[in-house]
Amino acid sequence: MNLNGKVAVVTGSSSGIGLELCRLLTAKEARVFGLSRRESRVDHPGFHWLQTDVAKQEEVDSAFDAIFGKHEQVDLLVNNAGFGVFGDVETIAPETWNRLIGTNLTAMFLCTRKTVPGMKAARKGMIVNVVSIAGKRGFKGGSAYCASKFGVNGFSEALMEELREYGIRVCSINPGSTGTEFFSHAGIEPKKLMNAVDVAALILSLIELPDDMLPDQMVVRPM
Ligand SMILES: NC(=O)c1ccc[n+]([C@@H]2O[C@H](COP(=O)([O-])OP(=O)(O)OC[C@H]3O[C@@H](n4cnc5c(N)ncnc54)[C@H](OP(=O)(O)O)[C@@H]3O)[C@@H](O)[C@H]2O)c1
Repeated sequence: MNLNGKVAVVTGSSSGIGLELCRLLTAKEARVFGLSRRESRVDHPGFHWLQTDVAKQEEVDSAFDAIFGKHEQVDLLVNNAGFGVFGDVETIAPETWNRLIGTNLTAMFLCTRKTVPGMKAARKGMIVNVVSIAGKRGFKGGSAYCASKFGVNGFSEALMEELREYGIRVCSINPGSTGTEFFSHAGIEPKKLMNAVDVAALILSLIELPDDMLPDQMVVRPM
């Protein structure tokens, strides 16, 4: 995709991978809408922050109403917002489980269903889902987080098959540990970390592939 003038929506734009990706996308002259609860600070006239809790359908709907008030369609959706909760299964409160599934999984469905009709009409577009190696492999203490991310990989794979015939590319990127605010909330400390700018640059490189190439799944881990 040539990003110049394209309309992009990135969820989880206030920090980490999402923030770095918004910076890279605006540098390519895309018009970028960032959705997050805290303010997203991207110093570029092509960036607009829409305060949104992506786990709440009414907030997602009004964010997309605002976007569609200005643009006919979204060319690129990056479903990136998410967080991690780790620990033995009996220590995870049901409310925490629901919040995790709501943010990491259901929010992707809520944002995707708003963008697909316009992409189908245009017969082009791209949806990138930021998943995790935890969506490929279960590990001790990861029951809730892995469940949410395995769910995202199932969602992505089915969506890829569903939308391919409409010229819409669905790509899931599964990073390993990356140095972001994620770990200040997660209560675990990984031994090795990738740089958030490098992970965002990898996502950008997949987005910029020719429209007739479909990079449907990518796993990347620290060396
Ligand atoms: N860091 C890693 O090692 C790693 C590895 C694999 C996958 N991932 C995935 O990468 C994605 C980005 O994480 P990150 O590492 O960049 O962490 P981060 O720096 O903590 O960023 C998370 C982003 O998600 C947003 N977010 C969380 N809940 C939200 C909600 N309810 N509504 C709207 N936005 C919400 C946060 O914004 P607000 O708090 O302002 O709402 C923030 O912008 C997540 O899906 C994460 O699971 C991370």
